[in-house]
Amino acid sequence: MKKSSSVPEFSVPSFQCPLNDVYSVRETKKHRIGQGQFGEVFRGKDKKTKEEVACKKNMIFNRKMKEQVMHEIRMMERVNETIDSEKAVQLKAVVLNKNSIYIIMDAMKGGELFYRLKERKSYSEKDASKIFKQVASTVKQMHSNDLLHRDLKPSNVMFRDNTENSDLVLIDFGLSLDMKRKQKDPYRDSPFVGTPGFAAPEACDRKFTKAGDVYALGSLLYILLVGFPPFHSKQINGSLDLYRKVTRNEEYFKMETHGWEHVSAEAKHLVRRMLRGDPSKRYTIDQVLAHPWIAKNNGNSGKVLSNTVKNFVRISARQRFRGAIRAIIMMNRLRALTSNTFVRNKRKRRDSKTNKKKKSKKSTSKKNSSR
Ligand SMILES: Nc1ncnc2c1ncn2[C@@H]1O[C@H](COP(=O)(O)OP(=O)(O)O)[C@@H](O)[C@H]1O
Ligand SMILES: [Mg+2]
Repeated sequence: MKKSSSVPEFSVPSFQCPLNDVYSVRETKKHRIGQGQFGEVFRGKDKKTKEEVACKKNMIFNRKMKEQVMHEIRMMERVNETIDSEKAVQLKAVVLNKNSIYIIMDAMKGGELFYRLKERKSYSEKDASKIFKQVASTVKQMHSNDLLHRDLKPSNVMFRDNTENSDLVLIDFGLSLDMKRKQKDPYRDSPFVGTPGFAAPEACDRKFTKAGDVYALGSLLYILLVGFPPFHSKQINGSLDLYRKVTRNEEYFKMETHGWEHVSAEAKHLVRRMLRGDPSKRYTIDQVLAHPWIAKNNGNSGKVLSNTVKNFVRISARQRFRGAIRAIIMMNRLRALTSNTFVRNKRKRRDSKTNKKKKSKKSTSKKNSSR
């Protein structure tokens, strides 16, 4: 096994070798624990320590993809440097191959937020407040260190293990940004960064501030309370213009629809302050944490939100379905990329053949003329 030398130093061990020299990982559907945007996440084991790990495989086909994955690694390093270790996923190692970069992390064995919540027998505002406070306090630490997450959503919040009091851990720092270091945003050419349905309206104008993270957290809180998201897919599947318009319209959050009748006024008050269309009027993360619904755990604390739990079941089924769609999109994208490379290589081969033919013709005609 070769220690990597051609890549910049990482704060964790890095290897340039086949993944299975260091970790035993089976890249099969059965061992896949998650679906990323450019790759998949597999369960694996450190061959030496036998410790369980999660391996995020990122296929690299061009310079841009490499820049984005390197950025994700750098952001994980930065987060691990500044945020309490129990709050954010830890980077353990990096394995580099010809066509892929594996990010090795500690494995979150408790699963994604909603996969676990849907199993709850009882779930009240008190529980929602406790869960939300944990995620919000992690975001507060990020914001105090001038780090933006930019992709806060339920699938990026995981339970470390299956115990009752398991830590809630923030993952996926691929879109994160360090505002102090003024680094180049690897998504500078993308018209939109984040996930529609969670991202703030100003993300459509490529404006990224801490207020954007608060908005996404507001969308998360909305789901924690009623079990469905603030925007329906019909409203967000259209253009960015439509998304901007719908998410800026505060009238939209009347919260009188079915599902909100059992939610306390305090909780509704907080959601409204977080989902303000105008980022300058939105709560800051400090104001969120100081809100009585969180700080004093006020609200209809005892009331069981049974309909909300039923909705969680539906959400997690939909998430799984989206994961499958994402996998198909990714496969098509990869196929397109590889076939482009294939076409390009074929063209190169054809061109070099015709050039050779031309050359040999020229040389024979030269030979003939010289005779
Ligand atoms: N450390 C981990 N342990 C267990 N599962 C993980 C871990 N990291 C990611 N996953 C799973 O893989 C999914 C995709 O990973 P993520 O880093 O969020 O990729 P993407 O950037 O494409 O969203 C997550 O939603 C989660 O279900
Ligand atoms: Mg993710």
